[in-house]
Amino acid sequence: MAVKTAAGQASDDFDFRKAEARSLPKELNLRELGYVPFRLEYLFSEYPVPCALYVPVLVQGEELPNFVKVLDPGQLFSEDWRLRLLDEQITVLYAEEGDLEAIDEYFKEVVEAALEDSWLGMQDQAAMLRAYGAFLAEGIFEDPHHPDTFEAAAWWADATARFLFQKSPGAAVLYRLFSKNYQAYLHSVQVSLLVMAVCRAMAWRNQDVRDAGVAALYHDMGKAWVDPRILHKPGSLTREEFAHIRRHPLQAHEHLKKMGWMNANQLEGVLSHHESMDGTGYPHGLKGTDIHPYARVIHVVDCFDAITTDRPYRLRTSPYRALKLMQNEMRLSFDHHILYKFIQFLGS
Ligand SMILES: [Fe+2]
Ligand SMILES: [Fe+2]
Repeated sequence: MAVKTAAGQASDDFDFRKAEARSLPKELNLRELGYVPFRLEYLFSEYPVPCALYVPVLVQGEELPNFVKVLDPGQLFSEDWRLRLLDEQITVLYAEEGDLEAIDEYFKEVVEAALEDSWLGMQDQAAMLRAYGAFLAEGIFEDPHHPDTFEAAAWWADATARFLFQKSPGAAVLYRLFSKNYQAYLHSVQVSLLVMAVCRAMAWRNQDVRDAGVAALYHDMGKAWVDPRILHKPGSLTREEFAHIRRHPLQAHEHLKKMGWMNANQLEGVLSHHESMDGTGYPHGLKGTDIHPYARVIHVVDCFDAITTDRPYRLRTSPYRALKLMQNEMRLSFDHHILYKFIQFLGS
């Protein structure tokens, strides 16, 4: 396929397979080289590509990859392009870090246009919101202190709330977009979308729907400080490893408080998302209504998403069985009213 090298020369004869494009060493951090992942699913047909997008190609014998330009800024993306990239098994492209602002503008324009387009179906609108949320969530884990992400997350939650209030999408519209493979950033955006939908179904005011949504997007940010070997360990964890993972709400809270981005409700939502109604949760063993409502909603949705996606230590459970489990064995953990509303929403 016709591609351009980072220097801009055409390289029609470049063969990705020969260059072992997919055998980049795991420890290689492309962000440290100044590139951020931009997934193929973030590109929409008939929208201009936001910035130059590259594929990292490691030539045998070389330590660092070459970034081969595959898409130019401003060119109209098409389904034809998507198929060509998929054909080469390329699902993640990379943008230069300096283009983050252009990417942000792109997502905002795409979402804004989608929400105003009366011809576009709810499913496509939800897909665009989910794509922007996923991009932001990935950035939260990679660079938790990036000052622009919070403003963008607030914009995203605002747009999502607008969509939820105007269209009242049923659970199927959102759930169809969800990945069953666990990835921290996908989990975050899925939890956030469902949290906002349930808060809306409980007739919370718009401001609370948005604020709870942002808290949900950040709820597991503390995992950025958890040792990845423990986070992805397939077997059972030792007592020390458990204790290490259980620090993530405190860590997120500590960092977010210092950054001064969140209001007190949102900070509580993040801090207490693993608290249980019966007092058996962590980090503080709070009980009942001592747990902030944002945290009680996030707790329900968080558990549901955890049970219904594959994790390193167990396979996923169907939504039906997950809800049964939550209603029976796990019922003391949840706020009954919220669980009831959540189940009602999922059935909508
Ligand atoms: Fe968590
Ligand atoms: Fe979580």
